[in-house]
Amino acid sequence: MEFINPWSSQQYKDYAKLRDQFGIGAFDFELPDAPPLFRRGVIFGHRGFEYVYDSIIHKQPFAVLTGLMPSGRMHFGHKMTIDQVRYYQEQGGDVHIAVADIEAYASRGISLEKAREIAVEEYVTNYIALGLDPEKTEVYFQSQRREVKDIAWKLGKKVNMSEFMAIYGFGGEANMTHVFSPLIQVGDILHVQLEKYGGARPTIVPVGVDQDPHIRLTRDIAARWRMFSFSMQKEGLGVFYKGEDAAKVLGRLKKHLEERGYENVKMNVPYKALYLTDRDEKDVISVDRDVMDYERELNEFAFFSPAATYHRLITGLTGSKMSSSHPDSAIFLSDSPAEAKKKVMRALTGGRATLDEHRRLGGEPDKCAVYEMFVYHLIDDDAYLREIHDTCINGTRICGKCKKEAANIIEEWLKEFHVKREQARDAVNDVLSTE
Ligand code: TRP
Ligand code: SF4
Repeated sequence: MEFINPWSSQQYKDYAKLRDQFGIGAFDFELPDAPPLFRRGVIFGHRGFEYVYDSIIHKQPFAVLTGLMPSGRMHFGHKMTIDQVRYYQEQGGDVHIAVADIEAYASRGISLEKAREIAVEEYVTNYIALGLDPEKTEVYFQSQRREVKDIAWKLGKKVNMSEFMAIYGFGGEANMTHVFSPLIQVGDILHVQLEKYGGARPTIVPVGVDQDPHIRLTRDIAARWRMFSFSMQKEGLGVFYKGEDAAKVLGRLKKHLEERGYENVKMNVPYKALYLTDRDEKDVISVDRDVMDYERELNEFAFFSPAATYHRLITGLTGSKMSSSHPDSAIFLSDSPAEAKKKVMRALTGGRATLDEHRRLGGEPDKCAVYEMFVYHLIDDDAYLREIHDTCINGTRICGKCKKEAANIIEEWLKEFHVKREQARDAVNDVLSTE
């Protein structure tokens, strides 16, 4: 595979391979009080998560940014992102949610008015009902937020057409608004670090792996706008400067660091470098934080490279991707409990063709959409999940039993959820930003 196409409905199978091919890191952080998604391999990869981890562990500020495509109906695949956002909010992150109305207009021909209607009716109400704290969450529209568009056209200067063709596979037929829309997403992800939105701080963007091209683009652009970079040298940790007037700028940075307790800072003007002889790789994050304080005085677009985590895309009940264009593949948060129940009972499982065979060979939970629902959404208890897995494999558990169990949990869950949804309506206006 050459590209990950964020606008296709591809379903990926081999996530480890995908990770290696695109240089995504394996996710193996031990997070405090993390929900099941984090420990079950559903979140399988990351870029730059060390920064956010550092913020969580040291109780430092960090931003959480995600976006919603205002088309179709909200289903359990979307819920997965919000479950993560809620966790980060509980850990102290401030939450910003972009309604991707420009992207929807560019790539799907949805009008801004329609996008607003879908976002409010279908998504935002559900977010609150899923437990996002209205006081600590803001939802804005790409088309309304000036800083997002400003970052798009200003920082777009550091990326060229060849790179866009290489990242996205854009060809001659692409419409120019569509070509521009990834830069808008760069604006979404970076603008929360502007002073107006809370200042430079680590940012986490939890996404499905289909969004990786946008993440790579954003991280590259952020790095290109930095005046300083870091790398290990034999003298110690090197801080390298990219601009003019090295003697003056580095002299000031040296002083800035010394005021913060750095004792061993050596300056090398011809190499445009400071060497921190008593620091090494494991200090990069704290050094970066201290350098950032200084850089921000000179560079309003100095951003910590945003971090992303990647989750597996949930398999639909019919075996293909869970998607609003195939209603039977998805459980929508607005499905009636009875409807949802029916869909689960009809789901594709990893069971064998006949009961006899199933008893003899055992089922295949790793190919089973019902088992996946258990793992991603329905069962918190790890020991019980393991039991389902093992008894499926050894043939003692049959699909009818699983389906009934899943259907009942979902039915109960939806009943409760719909009550919460009604209660959430009043809070919608509190989270919608007017700019
Ligand atoms: N491109 C995303 C999608 O297709 C939506 C989106 C817009 C987004 N801005 C974002 C996602 C910023 C994460 C971060 O669903
Ligand atoms: Fe899936 Fe359960 Fe059937 Fe196993 S027994 S294949 S887990 S539905």
